Amino acid sequence: MVWMNVEAHWEAVYGAKRFDQVSWFRPHLETSIALIERATQDRSARIIDVGGGESTLVDDLIALGYRNLTVLDVSQTALRVTQERLGERANHVEWIAADITTVNFPSAAYDVWHDRAVFHFLTDPDDRAAYIDRVTKCVKPGGHVIIGTFGVGGPLKCSGLYVRRYDSESLHGEFGKRFRLMDSVTELHETPFGTTQRFLYCFCLVEEWKNAGRSSVVAPILDHPVEEASAFTAEALMSDARQLKKTGTEALPSICFLDFDGDLTDWLVERGIARPFDSWACFHTTMFWLDLEGVRCGIVARTIGGPFAVLIAEQLRTAGVSLIVGLTSAGRVAPELPLPGLVVASAAIRDEGTSYHYLRPQEEATCPSDVTEPIARELRDSGFAVRTGKVWTTDAPYRETSGQLQKWAEEGALAVEMQAASLFAFGRAQGAKVAVVARVSNAVDHDGQQFDTGSNDEGLMILQALARAGLSILQLRTQD
Ligand SMILES: C[S@@+](CC[C@H](N)C(=O)[O-])C[C@H]1O[C@@H](n2cnc3c(N)ncnc32)[C@H](O)[C@@H]1O
Repeated sequence: MVWMNVEAHWEAVYGAKRFDQVSWFRPHLETSIALIERATQDRSARIIDVGGGESTLVDDLIALGYRNLTVLDVSQTALRVTQERLGERANHVEWIAADITTVNFPSAAYDVWHDRAVFHFLTDPDDRAAYIDRVTKCVKPGGHVIIGTFGVGGPLKCSGLYVRRYDSESLHGEFGKRFRLMDSVTELHETPFGTTQRFLYCFCLVEEWKNAGRSSVVAPILDHPVEEASAFTAEALMSDARQLKKTGTEALPSICFLDFDGDLTDWLVERGIARPFDSWACFHTTMFWLDLEGVRCGIVARTIGGPFAVLIAEQLRTAGVSLIVGLTSAGRVAPELPLPGLVVASAAIRDEGTSYHYLRPQEEATCPSDVTEPIARELRDSGFAVRTGKVWTTDAPYRETSGQLQKWAEEGALAVEMQAASLFAFGRAQGAKVAVVARVSNAVDHDGQQFDTGSNDEGLMILQALARAGLSILQLRTQD
């Protein structure tokens, strides 16, 4: 489309017809006024009417008290006619005679952008792109964009020019996801000649840039700046804990277990197998140490759920722990899994919250095989029934529905638990070696079976196998 042609065309139209003799004339643009009032009640808001022509919208907005108005049109004649109609009131309006596809606007200049029956003339994709560049640049984040075009079933031409007709999806689709579609309205416009034209209006909120590209409902959990450093650190918290609790200065064991349930730790402590470790600078937990296979290992109990598990895992990593192994009870998802049985988690479905603070949204978080394989091998060698595979991590065990159980079983999940995805995401993001072993204790939908995670003696055997695996994993790492 050549700029002069557009201008010449519209000059000819307005030169030949009075304002109320054109097909788009309405005494008042009621739909536009209602949407503008919905966008802002602030009478000092900056509002631009793009391709305002000779319409009475500006008159009505002035009457409503809006005082920062701009009217843009490619036709000087149309602007002059409107100015003359307004008389003295025209002095309080900014007038721009320009083609919307080439005009230069300052950034974030407007709170509301209104366009009735202009965008649909842009049949050339380059013109539409130029238009969208301008609306994107000059409407403030948090501002609104109202676009009215011919709707589906509307005319194919207007004023002798071909148009594009839109439904709300296709019109919104032109603008991109930074324009959150708040509403759409269909209007049957009666022309001065007694015919009816179907119009479609989209009412969009302009998102902050950081929210661009998200779904129309922007859940904060899906929008974390995962590349940015945290302002609050485990180092800072542990330094406070060290001072206030006057903890010892001994180095932490290289291998530490997170015993999510805690019963095993209680038993180890009762038996004198595990003893408090005084150099653990933590406000929320006690660490115990125990000798396994000639290696001193740490164990922290009841770090249940992704947030708590990762809170403690962050502190363990900060304190120099090289391998963190979570030991959890879990519900059976794969019907063929023996009960009780062990699952070494190689991946976890991220149906929880914590992982999204570490990794961009994706369905799964994984555990590297140089961690899972030695663990599965040692456990098998100790006589346990072991499967390596995917688990489903949830934040809300009492919200596990039958449909979800079936779906995740079909997608290969063996068991459901509450930490793996969070810990794996933390491990991936922070470069920490992390593993999760699940003691599958029950069928989630129960079918009359008792909870059975196996005995505490078996628990100790599991820890011993994990310690052996840990040694081999850390030796592997040292050799690397
Ligand atoms: C169908 S009229 C609609 C006028 C007004 N919005 C209304 O609803 O009554 C289209 C208007 O857009 C203007 N226009 C068309 N193409 C334009 C462009 N590329 N840049 C600026 N204005 C344009 C025309 O001059 C005309 O006033």
